[in-house]
Amino acid sequence: MPDDRPIGMFDSGVGGLTVARAVIDLLPNERILYVGDNGRFPYGPRPLEEIRAFALEIAAFLVSREVKMLVVACNSIEVAAIEDVARAHGVPVVGVIDPGARAAVRATRNHQIGLIGTQATVDSGAYDRAVARLGADVRLVSRACPAFVDFVERGDTSSEELRTIATGYLEPLRTEGVDTLILGCTHYPMLSGLIQVVMGDDVVLVSSAEETAKDVYSALVSADLLRTNPSEPRHEFLTTGDPEQFRAVAHHFLGPKVGGIRAVDVGSVRGVETARLARGSTWI
Ligand code: DGL
Repeated sequence: MPDDRPIGMFDSGVGGLTVARAVIDLLPNERILYVGDNGRFPYGPRPLEEIRAFALEIAAFLVSREVKMLVVACNSIEVAAIEDVARAHGVPVVGVIDPGARAAVRATRNHQIGLIGTQATVDSGAYDRAVARLGADVRLVSRACPAFVDFVERGDTSSEELRTIATGYLEPLRTEGVDTLILGCTHYPMLSGLIQVVMGDDVVLVSSAEETAKDVYSALVSADLLRTNPSEPRHEFLTTGDPEQFRAVAHHFLGPKVGGIRAVDVGSVRGVETARLARGSTWI
């Protein structure tokens, strides 16, 4: 049955917008309800238990807003909580790790794959398990790049300071001879210009965003949940942080058609029963 409800999507901040972008490209008729937990960003250095608690709050909030599926647009949330999120709610749940691993295994020619992500993601070994599940004969070399996300949240993709940090993080992976690099944090595709320069043109960068969008497509088709309403879909982007800052970065990466951006307070996300938008917040 055609379904007009939005797709719920969430991340610790603006990173999941890379996934939103890919979903909008592939499914231009779908509505997106996005929550960026910028008020509690970053997630990467936090204990998994804490990330899990935040994730369950946001998922419950999105379900209370009647989303038809959940897209965990954040690797760190996926490693901490995707099974719990799926168990808690009767809607399809799509993550980013399997799609990214799949694309990397397809892309590598020398069977040496690099992975960069947050500390939580790298420490979890989730990509090692995802690659193993594919039965692929590859070596995975992982490296946490915790500082990257702060630059992305500030909209900085090219400063001298960032370039120096990127070289420090990525040189060792180059030396390892990887021919494919998984951007295992949804913030990182926004730095792909810089990462490509440091890694060199012969290294394939894998962003899970496009692959995840294909999984979203196929989940909606197989559950018969596609939106067929011919009216222009209205997206909604909520942030627990500063909406002005979110808007600046979102417009930068998603273009002027972002749609409504609003503040939602963490208390509202937490107290789903009394979910309400932050008083005084305005559409911008
Ligand atoms: N975008 C998130 C991810 O994919 C991480 C950002 C953070 O550290 O909060 O892992």
